[in-house]
Amino acid sequence: MGSDGAPRMPTAFTVQGRLALVTGAGTGIGRAIALALAGAGADLLLLSEKDDLDDVAAEARSTGGKVQTVQLDLADPERRRAETERLLDANAVDILVNNAGLIRRAPAEDFPDGDWYDVLEVNLHAAFELCRAAGRRMVARGHGKIVNVASLLSFQGGLYVPSYAASKHALVGLTRALANEWAGRGVNVNAIAPGYVATATTDALRNDPARSREILARIPAGRWAEPADIAGSAVFLASPAADYVHGHVLVVDGGWLAR
Ligand SMILES: NC(=O)c1ccc[n+]([C@@H]2O[C@H](COP(=O)([O-])OP(=O)(O)OC[C@H]3O[C@@H](n4cnc5c(N)ncnc54)[C@H](OP(=O)(O)O)[C@@H]3O)[C@@H](O)[C@H]2O)c1
Repeated sequence: MGSDGAPRMPTAFTVQGRLALVTGAGTGIGRAIALALAGAGADLLLLSEKDDLDDVAAEARSTGGKVQTVQLDLADPERRRAETERLLDANAVDILVNNAGLIRRAPAEDFPDGDWYDVLEVNLHAAFELCRAAGRRMVARGHGKIVNVASLLSFQGGLYVPSYAASKHALVGLTRALANEWAGRGVNVNAIAPGYVATATTDALRNDPARSREILARIPAGRWAEPADIAGSAVFLASPAADYVHGHVLVVDGGWLAR
């Protein structure tokens, strides 16, 4: 406790004055991570495909930090490359959170080409390009933190989601590959693997009573995660407390993988 009775945050766990770029920040886990980073002192550069960032930006500004918002479709490679280069030239980003992602569900034998490529484009290709563009600048400055949002389907295959499982397995491989190259140059690359979180990504599962019961029965914590349950792990990996953590996948799953 501090002298005012408030819990004291060890300085190693703050991101005071750091600039964090968070993708997919208008909703779900990305929104929760953005607000948690703002609460821990970061300024924010928030990206979203839709025009849905006003609310999260207003809430983040109320904690005192500076917030910029950018609407960008990460599925559009040309615009994505041009816009991220422009943004990263104009802003010294200290923390990159690759959170934007999508899922498409269909039986593997009939899985549509579009659902394969669309998912890989955002979940993997966009994430790699953002890592490369931000990482190049972080390496040049000698510091930076990258947090990729992986999944339990970075370790398991799931059902009816082959492109999602492939993209999230690959994202973990990418995280480790980049960590190996950049760990000695002041840049930490890690990932979070959330369990089952109540967001738009899992609407279809929660709306299927049998599937929802089945999932819940396997979670030792006895409940689905809320987005805020995931956010603290991102703040930790973005903070100096994680300076010696490289290529790690921090699982936040209510105990799912322990079963
Ligand atoms: N919910 C879970 O149980 C769970 C578990 C493990 C991992 N995850 C991962 O967590 C991350 C966040 O998902 P969520 O669960 O919080 O669901 P969500 O609320 O649907 O968030 C997904 C975010 O990705 C953004 N996005 C999707 N396509 C985009 C594009 N083309 N360009 C830019 N942004 C795009 C969305 O923005 P728009 O809405 O503007 O398109 C949205 O903000 C994803 O990577 C997901 O795979 C979720």
